[in-house]
Amino acid sequence: MHFPHDDPYWQSVADFLLGRFGKESRIVAPTEFHELIPRTFPYDVIRHIDLKEMQAVVIHKGTLKEVGESTCALLAKEGTPLFGNEVFVVFTLKEPPVARLTGKEHFTDFYLKTKDPGTFPVNPVKLHSEFTDKATVILMTTYNRPDRLELALESIAPLKAPILVIDDGSDAKHASAYAAVYERHDVRILNMPGNRGLSNALNAGLNYWLADPLVEWICYLQDDVEVRSDLLVALARVQDPVNYPLLTGRRNNLHKIYGEKEVNGQKILLQRMSPGIHLHAHRSYWEKMLPIPTAYFQAPRHWPELPARGADEDWWISQWSPNSIVKAGKYIAVLPDLVRTTAVLPAESTWGSPGKPEPLLPSPCYATDGFVAATFRSTPSKSGASTKLEPIRNFWEALAARFGQKSESEIHPHAPAECAELYHAIDSGSTELETLNFINALICLFKPLKALETGTFLGYGTCAITAGLKSNHRGHLLTLEIDSIRLQWSRDHLHQFDPQLEEKVTFINESSLDFIARYQGEAFDFVFFDTEVEIRIQEFRLLRERNLFAPGAICIMHDTSPHRPPIHDGAGGAADFHDRELLSSLGDDFEVFQFPRSRGFHLLRYCGQKSISMK
Ligand SMILES: C[S@@+](CC[C@H](N)C(=O)[O-])C[C@H]1O[C@@H](n2cnc3c(N)ncnc32)[C@H](O)[C@@H]1O
Repeated sequence: MHFPHDDPYWQSVADFLLGRFGKESRIVAPTEFHELIPRTFPYDVIRHIDLKEMQAVVIHKGTLKEVGESTCALLAKEGTPLFGNEVFVVFTLKEPPVARLTGKEHFTDFYLKTKDPGTFPVNPVKLHSEFTDKATVILMTTYNRPDRLELALESIAPLKAPILVIDDGSDAKHASAYAAVYERHDVRILNMPGNRGLSNALNAGLNYWLADPLVEWICYLQDDVEVRSDLLVALARVQDPVNYPLLTGRRNNLHKIYGEKEVNGQKILLQRMSPGIHLHAHRSYWEKMLPIPTAYFQAPRHWPELPARGADEDWWISQWSPNSIVKAGKYIAVLPDLVRTTAVLPAESTWGSPGKPEPLLPSPCYATDGFVAATFRSTPSKSGASTKLEPIRNFWEALAARFGQKSESEIHPHAPAECAELYHAIDSGSTELETLNFINALICLFKPLKALETGTFLGYGTCAITAGLKSNHRGHLLTLEIDSIRLQWSRDHLHQFDPQLEEKVTFINESSLDFIARYQGEAFDFVFFDTEVEIRIQEFRLLRERNLFAPGAICIMHDTSPHRPPIHDGAGGAADFHDRELLSSLGDDFEVFQFPRSRGFHLLRYCGQKSISMK
């Protein structure tokens, strides 16, 4: 489109602009001006640029609809008029050096038209959308953590917002676990063809949502989150595209708090950095962040030649981007206690985050029933997704669905007779899932009243025992752990698995031998021995000496495989199980069954005074 030099109205504006600002100036104007002034931005890109950076905004009075209602209103209110003729009005939003105005009389019709709603009919093409109204949507990234994603999606589902999950090229071995997660949840899935790193996944996901003009707020969450059901309601009280375009529901203790405010009755903290675990922003803010740079190939990960370093996407979004909130002199609005990470940070963080397990979230405090995150124009939700029945799972599968599972053969060295490849565990310190399943079933079968576990670790044995007690509607567990941090983790895991189990257990932070030596309560009718293999037989002896086995009591002595090979330098083998001969010389007092596979266990039943009676 050539510039119409023969049109006096166009030419007079061009003469004004070139004379006043020169051909290097930055202006907003119809695209024809590009021929004369290369740094011309057409009306179509107004929402992607900062009008205050422009030396002039040239408005063709016949195309106010294309300029848009909000831009016209802004110019009418804050713009300094510079030049006008029958066809054009020219403004600046920059501080004008000297406002010399030519053609003042030609601005009146611009002001009048701007106030007339009929000037700006809704443009149905521009609003074409899958939603009926402005929508808040969820974006999640995941990589090799189907178990974490499952947990996260369970807490996100009550937000009732459309969810896009981007898998950043997870390893093929996780494919079936991911497929199972997607079966259970109503999500859209974008699979990267290969692992490229978090920023790339985030860019792809943001672009997916931004392609819909009614997507207004994009709530980015990583796959290890737990969220409160009133997350979006609480954010909606504060979010504001101008003053608070970037928010987070998680307080970041590693960085400074610059102030506190109350917005619509909601307390917020002001920070300049928020980790990527949760970042919630207006579409105009996300648009300004793109593309988020990739710090290094496949970031975040441990490359041997690189010092530990994250993906830095959160630094870019918070403060490194020239368009970030911090560079604009403002702050991230932090609404604490709406989101937490379920990851055990130092162990799972790629860059070695020094965090501790995060405390549980408080209960929601806002009603969520009136909040609509997004309404679809038609209802193209995945066929049958909402009516699908949960498959019935045994205890092992339920625990693995929450916390994941690995093959026992990947975790520990094993002798072939132990058939480790057939067994599974969540991690190397926790009991095998099949053994936990058996313990859960034993509890359901024997209906104990007073159970004891020595060695809580991450609480999965505690889950198995208390889940059985819950099904029985009777019984209580005491679980002993010497390490207070582990005890806190296990409380968290129990809560994540089923909060109703909490009333079935007392967590005790004490050495098992000290506790058993001082214990004055009722005798135990179920005991799971699972501390260090060096002391389990001492625990057994002490319970016996103190007459703390109830008649008919059932015991599991874990890790007694006779084949157990040493882990290194001869240590950690079957011989380390001190005094294990005792288990073969209990005489008539105990019935004994030995299970030799995987890590093995002895199942003991105390016959008491030759009685098989039970309470
Ligand atoms: C094998 S893990 C327990 C696993 C857990 N029972 C399960 O089913 O997943 C052993 C735990 O015992 C704890 N422990 C070691 N010696 C202890 C003692 N004397 N008293 C209490 N806890 C002890 C360790 O800190 C560790 O967390």
